[in-house]
Amino acid sequence: MDTSNIILVGPPGAGKGTQAIMLREKLDALYISTGDLFRSHLSNETDLGKEAQKYMSAGELVPDALTINMLSQELEKKSDDHGFILDGFPRNVVQADALSELLDRKDLSIDVVLFFNVPNDELVRRLSTRYTCKVCQAPQNINQSEGNVTSKCNLCEGELYQRNDDAPEAIKRRLDVYDQETKPILNYYEEQNLLTEINSVGSVEEVFTRVEGALQ
Ligand code: AP5
Repeated sequence: MDTSNIILVGPPGAGKGTQAIMLREKLDALYISTGDLFRSHLSNETDLGKEAQKYMSAGELVPDALTINMLSQELEKKSDDHGFILDGFPRNVVQADALSELLDRKDLSIDVVLFFNVPNDELVRRLSTRYTCKVCQAPQNINQSEGNVTSKCNLCEGELYQRNDDAPEAIKRRLDVYDQETKPILNYYEEQNLLTEINSVGSVEEVFTRVEGALQ
């Protein structure tokens, strides 16, 4: 896989985080998940974490100014000889424009935008059964943990918990917000010939094979 500046886009529960973990092992790239960063701020009880939580638990987007500022600081960690994988950013056209400006200033560009496409009923099923590791933030499915909610993370043995935005009302709101605010960036990147759709129904391994194929 040669491509290294990658954006992962898709509805909540499409498997962006799951595929990102596998991609990170293949590509030596800086991985930035804005959702993970907000959750990390929250667990460290920072002001940003407390502010973000008000929006996250309701399934709303965190205000652009806060999000863009946080993303900009993270991008500073990128070294010249490594690419980046952005998961969950941009989430609307304002953020996409801001990213474009940030990258221009650094003389960087996006190689590909992978759009993970999954029907809504499957998204709801995945999110309702998801458990997340408190330590490494890896998502896991309750079925994969054999129904035992106290089981440990299969990557780092950390404790698993259920995200409060995986409650039914918040899932519904997140799907609506995706339709209204995030879907327009699919056209935005399609017009720039950057968008590649990945059929994300199938096993995690099957989807990853499609990702690898798209990045060849
Ligand atoms: P964020 O953490 O980015 O959440 P999201 O985009 O809603 O995506 P998810 O993490 O829910 O899903 P995913 O696609 O990563 O799927 P996963 O791999 O976990 O954002 C959370 C909140 O933070 C936002 O709502 C917002 O408030 C705020 N935020 C973040 N970024 C922001 C931004 N840029 N601007 C403003 N606000 C922002 O998989 C889901 C489940 O499915 C798992 O259980 C997994 O094991 C399972 N699974 C994965 N693949 C498969 C498969 N192929 N088959 C079966 N099961 C699978």
